Amino acid sequence: MKNIKSILAQMTLEEKAALCTGASAWTTVPVERLGIPEMIVSDGPHGVRRVPDASSLMMTSLPATCFPTASCLAATWDVDLIHEMGEALAEECIALNVDVLLGPGANMKRSPLGGRNFEYFSEDPYLAGEMAASLIDGIQGKGVGTSLKHFAANNQEFQRFSINAVVDERTLYEIYLPAFENAVKKAQPWTVMCAYNKLNGSYCSEHHELLVDILKTKWGFQGLVVSDWGAVHNRVASLKGGLDLEMPGPQETRVQAVVEAVRSGMLDESILDESVRRILGIVFKAQETPKGGEFDIEAHHALARKIAAEGMVLLKNDGLLPLKGHQHIAVIGRAAEVAHFQGGGSSHINPTKVAIPFQELLNQAEEAELSYAEGYSADGSLHQELIDQAVDVAESADVALIYLALPASKESEGYDRPDLELTEPQIALIKAVATAQPKTVVVLNNGAPVVMSDWIDDVAAVLEAWMMGQAGGGAIADILFGKVNPSGKVAETFPLKNADTPAHINWPGGAGEVRYGEGIFIGYRYYDAKELPVLFPFGHGLSYTTFSYSNPTVSADSFRDVDGVIVKVDVTNTGNLTGKETVQLYVHDQKSGLVRPEKELKGFAKVELQPGETKTVSFELDFRSFAYYHPEYHQWITEDGEFDLLIGASAADIRHSLTITLESTLELPCLIDKESTIREWMTDPRGAAVLGPVFKQIKSNNQELFGGEENGDVGMDVMDMLADMPLVSVLMFQQGSLTMPADEMVDGLLMQVHGKVPQM
Ligand code: BGC
Repeated sequence: MKNIKSILAQMTLEEKAALCTGASAWTTVPVERLGIPEMIVSDGPHGVRRVPDASSLMMTSLPATCFPTASCLAATWDVDLIHEMGEALAEECIALNVDVLLGPGANMKRSPLGGRNFEYFSEDPYLAGEMAASLIDGIQGKGVGTSLKHFAANNQEFQRFSINAVVDERTLYEIYLPAFENAVKKAQPWTVMCAYNKLNGSYCSEHHELLVDILKTKWGFQGLVVSDWGAVHNRVASLKGGLDLEMPGPQETRVQAVVEAVRSGMLDESILDESVRRILGIVFKAQETPKGGEFDIEAHHALARKIAAEGMVLLKNDGLLPLKGHQHIAVIGRAAEVAHFQGGGSSHINPTKVAIPFQELLNQAEEAELSYAEGYSADGSLHQELIDQAVDVAESADVALIYLALPASKESEGYDRPDLELTEPQIALIKAVATAQPKTVVVLNNGAPVVMSDWIDDVAAVLEAWMMGQAGGGAIADILFGKVNPSGKVAETFPLKNADTPAHINWPGGAGEVRYGEGIFIGYRYYDAKELPVLFPFGHGLSYTTFSYSNPTVSADSFRDVDGVIVKVDVTNTGNLTGKETVQLYVHDQKSGLVRPEKELKGFAKVELQPGETKTVSFELDFRSFAYYHPEYHQWITEDGEFDLLIGASAADIRHSLTITLESTLELPCLIDKESTIREWMTDPRGAAVLGPVFKQIKSNNQELFGGEENGDVGMDVMDMLADMPLVSVLMFQQGSLTMPADEMVDGLLMQVHGKVPQM
């Protein structure tokens, strides 16, 4: 281990400033005289995009395995499998001489219209955090670094370099930060990449509260913060804000600005030193892993196929799947011949090889005859002759498979999706084929939900195959022919229509700003609260077998928040095929001081079961499983009371519910001040102790003033009205019967509670 302190002490101001900005598109600055090597970073997140020429941002990268993108990974609900993928990614980084892989992305899917949702895991922070932590752990366990990105509130592509995301404190802590928090605390990524956008008025690249107070101080992040590529606007301000490494480089004027800022006293050198210390720590750590050699192309392709098969979601199946005994299969749609397996932009991988879906069907079709029709064209316009040909092929077959890929014009990094529909020619194709052939299966390649109301009732089955990675073509065949029993479940809600989605009226913002007006209610939290029907709920996915849940138990009926509880349930495979089930545990707070979602995911477990087999799954719930973030206390709090533990197969398929009683061990500061209402005084134990005796007097005064609690003359329950008025205002109405001014009286009571009058 290098002595970083001593190396730092030997560095000149110019060398230190230079180290904090990249040397090229993908490398950091080496300092030969002190033995500081360069560090090589590469995109990410679902493969290694190693660009051979470090000065080029865009050129074709070296061949590497393209694994499925994050939507598919999260739909596996299998943290062990994602860990395995992380290990494989690390092996490829080592072979391709990459020190840090730029991923995973842990942003929330605020709206399904987000162009980059395919690179993100979920609409749920717990699931996204678990996935990110596992991937990071897999990669870093082999001595290769990661970059958890894009921190934070990077949830849209529209004006992504500049938009100001306006997010209230509670929403930030409960929805947009926890996946990062979980991954940082559990897996300590070597680097965290700040987002391009502004958050509540400051660029994330200069956001001291975000990068220093929250990430480095509260969460204990040990690594370095790197900018997203081009996210730095003012290098000195960004250093002060906690941004250690600016990328890409070189940026000579920026380096010079840092040198001058230190010389002129505008930038404290200790701030620069802290960034240099963090960068050196990672640069030397990266050097500990020798690079070179080869990776196992075939083994990684096979792993990519396994992951794809686990993440694909059988959304609908009226019994047609798995295919068997069909003599003639019509295979329709360009996506069967031209595999669509990743999204556009910085994550684009140059695959080692690609499984062609049609070819993979042929490999497994045994005796069946396969006929192909293109169905729709690459140019996106409607070609009736292609539809007619497809109908002919479908009519003469026993079953039709339609392979559809959402084109890049409808989904990519860099711009948001215009709508949630497939293209018009694709919809026309489905309708025409399904009319001719009722035994029609639709296979979708896309990175985020599409709406299906126009056609879903016309088809027999729908397989969501996502951006499935280079081996996905084989995984589709595995599922269609039943070689693999599908077990993926969607990690995001599929809505019925765009207008139903949580951020709809606040999307994508304008005039430089986007307001997160839906607050904590994104994804299923929103659909639950609005009681809105959806196409497929969060956590939904079908299997070729069936599962039953029984014997739910909890370790204690009453418990202290810090002790948590353990929940168990038995799962039985009640069908005839081996299969995997993901059991989900949601928590519902029966009563809370502030509004809370109807339920929130706090645990999940995936198990494999033979026909007739039963296994017990268990979940550990801790303080945070029951807490919510209180914006007045600025911390996570628990409240005494009853909680329901909901055990389900999806957010809309709850099989068992257990009720337990929580005792909060928190000693919260008393927030009562001059504006506090009577209810706030009386619900705080310290307030109630002081106000209690006075309150009796207020009540009887109130009777004189208003003529009793329920006064027919004013048509209202007066006490109910008074309860939510500030104490001082209520007293002012009663000034005549008070012995001192209302203000002074409240100050006196506040003195008794706090020993002083809190300043407003
Ligand atoms: C993307 C990052 C990526 C970086 C480097 C940026 O435009 O937002 O995710 O890692 O480019 O390619």
